[in-house]
Amino acid sequence: MKKVLFAAAVLTLAACSSPPAPRPTGQALFTSFDEQANALLAEMTLEEKIGQMTQPDQEFLKSDDHIRDYMFGSMLSGGGSDPDTNTFAAWRDLYERYQARALETRLKIPMLYGVDAVHGHSNVIGAVVFPHNIGLGATRNAALVEEIARITAKEVKATGINWTFAPCVAAPRDDRWGRTYEGFSEDPALVAELGAAATRGLQGADLTDPNAVVACVKHFAGDGATTFGTGIARDGQMLLDRGDAQMSEEELRRLAIDQYIPSILAGAATIMPSYNMWNGARASGSHRLLTGILKEELGFEGFLISDFAAIDELPGDYKQDIVESINAGMDMVMIPNRYEEFITLALEAVNEGLIPMERIDDAVRRILRVKFAYGLFDEGWSPKADPALEASFGSAEHREVARRAVRESLVLLKNDGALPLAKTAKRIHVTGPGADDIGMMSGGWTIDWQGKMGAITEGTTILEAIRATVGEGTEVTTSADGTGAEGADAVVVVIGERPYAEMNGDDTDLALDAGDVAVLNNARAAGVPVVTVLISGRVMVVGDAIDGSNAFVAAWLPGSEGQGVADVLFGDHKPTGKLSFTWPRSIEQVPINVGDATYDPLFPFGFGLTY
Ligand code: BGC
Repeated sequence: MKKVLFAAAVLTLAACSSPPAPRPTGQALFTSFDEQANALLAEMTLEEKIGQMTQPDQEFLKSDDHIRDYMFGSMLSGGGSDPDTNTFAAWRDLYERYQARALETRLKIPMLYGVDAVHGHSNVIGAVVFPHNIGLGATRNAALVEEIARITAKEVKATGINWTFAPCVAAPRDDRWGRTYEGFSEDPALVAELGAAATRGLQGADLTDPNAVVACVKHFAGDGATTFGTGIARDGQMLLDRGDAQMSEEELRRLAIDQYIPSILAGAATIMPSYNMWNGARASGSHRLLTGILKEELGFEGFLISDFAAIDELPGDYKQDIVESINAGMDMVMIPNRYEEFITLALEAVNEGLIPMERIDDAVRRILRVKFAYGLFDEGWSPKADPALEASFGSAEHREVARRAVRESLVLLKNDGALPLAKTAKRIHVTGPGADDIGMMSGGWTIDWQGKMGAITEGTTILEAIRATVGEGTEVTTSADGTGAEGADAVVVVIGERPYAEMNGDDTDLALDAGDVAVLNNARAAGVPVVTVLISGRVMVVGDAIDGSNAFVAAWLPGSEGQGVADVLFGDHKPTGKLSFTWPRSIEQVPINVGDATYDPLFPFGFGLTY
């Protein structure tokens, strides 16, 4: 599915500010390249500089010649912006084709090509799909998160691509938000720790590591802290996504800014300002957030890339959007389609003195610093993908790490002794919409922007994994609707959310859908032990589904390696996952977060049983 361009009404209220506390600054990881960056900058025309600041989506490129003619510093594949056939080779060819065109420019400045490799190289069929961040948060395992990011970087790099818009360090505070699963936890401290681990993993010990990609910590700031009713509208109701974080600066720092500091200190090369507002003003146009806090106070030396068409949501016409965001501190703009208009208007704005030349130079210097630090100008750098990496793409070794992540991410919420299941059982019945569905297990940002149901990529479904786990004497039967469990030793019911991503995922009641309730009721009617596995991008208000199950496992969005689920169900590995979000009793309790003055959840933050 093509990603839609979206424009929202913008509220303008004054952002409030309080005096900043002293913060650590960067470590000259990027300013140490200023000599080279400045030398190159001195040779550049204004057109070349604006080109460096321009990032179109390849999907909207009118002609490959435009890469040479407009001298883009970067391009991206946003959600669903795939090559014509979605294969490893086609992705690699796409990257190599565009990079070759960038080298036809006068100054031959290589481009950064960005994708959303947010849980593995998850746009590419055949890549290993890791659990979404919500599941990784439940593992509490920073070393594992770093290892996953290393592998992701390697699979991305195998296609030549050198930049991922990850990690997301939102601390989602309202589970109705459709991007909750992109956050490791509602607790900003846990997010800070795992976000830095992901940054280190993606960028390697240092950016010249041949298997490193440039990381992009996102979305700065307040994406997970918006107030319900201030976001985008759906069915006549304003929801959360792209909404307004209505809070003091102190609160914003606590919930949405401080978690960037460990990633900045770990050397994060890029940061993505957010779609959301802070007290009525869009982050993409906030000088206070982008320049005052991020660059001046926190000493961020890399560059800022705007979110997809995010500057378009600033008040005023497009030229005003450009002026406001660049003057606020935006360094590169994810256009994604109107790149010719952007370039014309940006040039006009500079020539008219609306954007000072020093600001343009600062932006381009920051972009070039990162390109130098990443080794794009080094003698040995190649515009081609390293063929030696292809063998590891989607490899068994990488899948093994994903399987480990899956089993560590599962949170056992209830068990009356039904688990672990016996491998010697006579018959296990496996049922429900998620039982045999990699698409449902993977959720949004997988192959398609919003994700989709079905056999969308390679991997092992939960049903296949159970079949591979039980002994020879055990029969595994299946049905889609919960029926057929009579006489089995146990029934495994896999229900939960269908794939979604930003905007579409906002939800008002967090309830199981009626079809899933019917599946569970059918299974319960058989009168055998019921083991429910919930696939979801967040905590849900599951009604009596927990009471009605003998065991209940929150599996989040585990990705392509369902074997990790079977490993735990059959006791090869004991459950170790702990909730990184608070589990509410009812929708009336939402938002509910650890540390709230009144806190009476169904399961508290940190909860998780074992055998
Ligand atoms: C999302 C970002 C993503 C970008 C590029 C936006 O809509 O908010 O998280 O990196 O698209 O696909």
